[in-house]
Amino acid sequence: MTADSSSGAGGISGGAISGKAKIAGVMGWPIGHSRSPRLHGFWLRQYGIDGAYVPLAVAPERAEQAIRALPALGFRGCNVTVPLKEIAFRTVDRLDGTARRMGAVNTIVVADDGALEGGNTDGFGFIENLRAEQPDWTAERGPAVVIGAGGAARAVVVALLDAGAPEVRLVNRTRARAEELAADLAAVGLNGGVTVVDWVSRETALDGASLLVNTTTQGMAGQPALDLSLRALPASAVVNDIVYVPLETPLLAEARARGNPVAGGIGMLLHQARPGFKAWFGVEPQVTPDLVRFVLEG
Ligand code: ATR
Repeated sequence: MTADSSSGAGGISGGAISGKAKIAGVMGWPIGHSRSPRLHGFWLRQYGIDGAYVPLAVAPERAEQAIRALPALGFRGCNVTVPLKEIAFRTVDRLDGTARRMGAVNTIVVADDGALEGGNTDGFGFIENLRAEQPDWTAERGPAVVIGAGGAARAVVVALLDAGAPEVRLVNRTRARAEELAADLAAVGLNGGVTVVDWVSRETALDGASLLVNTTTQGMAGQPALDLSLRALPASAVVNDIVYVPLETPLLAEARARGNPVAGGIGMLLHQARPGFKAWFGVEPQVTPDLVRFVLEG
């Protein structure tokens, strides 16, 4: 089935909703570039659910007010994206352990008692994507090298440590930011396993690694390629780029050419959306090739 076909399951035709529709959305600033409405819209139509998932353009100075208004508006909850994830973290009534470790909330669920529950599914999306693309990969297998020290890096490092990675080598152009991230993680109890590596030593950090992840914007359309030689990386190491425009970044192309198993970035976006969809709309959605095509077309 495609997202454009109507589904009989819920009596919903052509994506129309009723007065009883379940409502969720994505809050960010700006929000026009977000692919999440398209992604959730595909699933709503695929599963014939009477619901809607809307883009919510909310300026940072009004984000707390907007988040607090969700229960009054009858929203089931919402996703939160850049630059509001830390504001959401400070605003919700309850945090799950993952959001606490990540210092950021990307999924809010309005509980039955009206409380705002904050979670973070970015790390879940990251791990599920790796498992889907490279089923033989396990975090326990060996050291991981993570390039970058922004919000995406934090989610990736927490997810890797939670999944049992024995060591995470954290490499960032600005060493101080990597140190700061390592200190933030130590403050939430993740005080083992993270080694900060100087930018000049990034190539030797690849020695013996079983996973390499780029969390920087380098390699994105319009940006230069990540400045990193893969010479020291074992041929068995999985290479993952969280950039997904283009789908095959220069890093992934080079890794593939030298025989490394690779995983693209679009799957992280798609898989991180699953827990929110389940909580708001009551169906466990699937990531399928049709979904990937539909989201990328938009
Ligand atoms: P996000 O929170 O989405 O991860 P971010 O905070 O803007 O985004 O982080 C971008 C990352 O890309 C940072 O790690 C940044 O490195 P610095 O901390 O040194 O700025 C990294 N980055 C950006 N441009 C880079 C470049 N030319 N070379 C290497 N790393 C770069």
